[in-house]
Amino acid sequence: MGKTEETTTGRERLIFALDVPSRKEAEALADELADDVGVFKVGLELFVAEGPSLVRALTKRRPVFLDLKLHDIPETVDRAVARAVDLEVAFLTVHASGGSEMLERAAKRVEGTKTQILAVTVLTSSDAAMLASIGVSGTVSDHVLRLAKLASTRRITGFVASPHEVALLRGALPRETVLVIPGIRPSGTLANDDQKRAATPTTAIRDGASYLVVGRPIRDAKNRKEAARSIVLEIEAALR
Ligand code: C5P
Repeated sequence: MGKTEETTTGRERLIFALDVPSRKEAEALADELADDVGVFKVGLELFVAEGPSLVRALTKRRPVFLDLKLHDIPETVDRAVARAVDLEVAFLTVHASGGSEMLERAAKRVEGTKTQILAVTVLTSSDAAMLASIGVSGTVSDHVLRLAKLASTRRITGFVASPHEVALLRGALPRETVLVIPGIRPSGTLANDDQKRAATPTTAIRDGASYLVVGRPIRDAKNRKEAARSIVLEIEAALR
C-alpha cells in the first residue's frame, strides 16, 4: 500500500472516508466494507472522538489514511508524524502551507517506514477572495501549483488535490507522485449541488488520480457494498 506496494487494482485505489462520530459506527462500516474498498480514511471528527486505539484496530482490516491535516511548528509536526508512523498508517496529511522546514522534516520522518506524507495545498473551501484576504494574490490554481512545487522540492511525494487540479498537478510534478482525490461522485449521480466541485471516478482517474476518496456516496447508499463495487468497476474501466 502507499509507497511500498504497486497500486494495481481498482479496489486498492478506492479510499473510503469513515466520516462518523463513534468507534461503533466506524467498525460496523469497516467490517461491512473491508472487502470492497482499499483504504479507510480517518478524519478529525473520528480521531478526536476515538483516537489511536481505533486506528490500530482499523489497520488490522485495511490500510488507514490518517487525515489530520497537520500544520504547526516543524518540531511539533515532526513529533506528531513520528507517532503516526508508530501507528503504521499508510497516509498522513500535512498542510503544504506549513512551509519548507515543516515539510522536509515530515518527509524525512517517514523515510523507510510504512507511512507516506500527503500534502494538502489549498482547501476547496477557499476561493481567490479568501486567499486575497490572507494576503495571497493570484488564482487558486497558481497557489496550488506554488505550494505543490515547494512541497515536491522538499521530498513530499504525495498530494491531496481537488478533481479540478489533478491534471495540472499530474503535468507539473514528478511522474511517481501520488495524487489522492476527494470530491468524487459516481457517474449518473452528479445532478445535484455537488456538480460544480465534484468529478466522476472516470474523469479523475483519466486526469491522473492515483487514489479516489469517497465518503457519502458509499456511506449513505442503500446498498453500500454495491455502491463501492460499482465505483471500483468504474475505476477499472477508466484505467483500461
Ligand atoms: O464528499 P464526501 O463525503 O465523498 O467526502 C469524503 C471525504 O473527502 C471527506 O472526509 C472530506 O474531508 C474529503 N473532502 C475533501 N475535499 C472536498 C470534499 C471532500 O477533502 N472538496
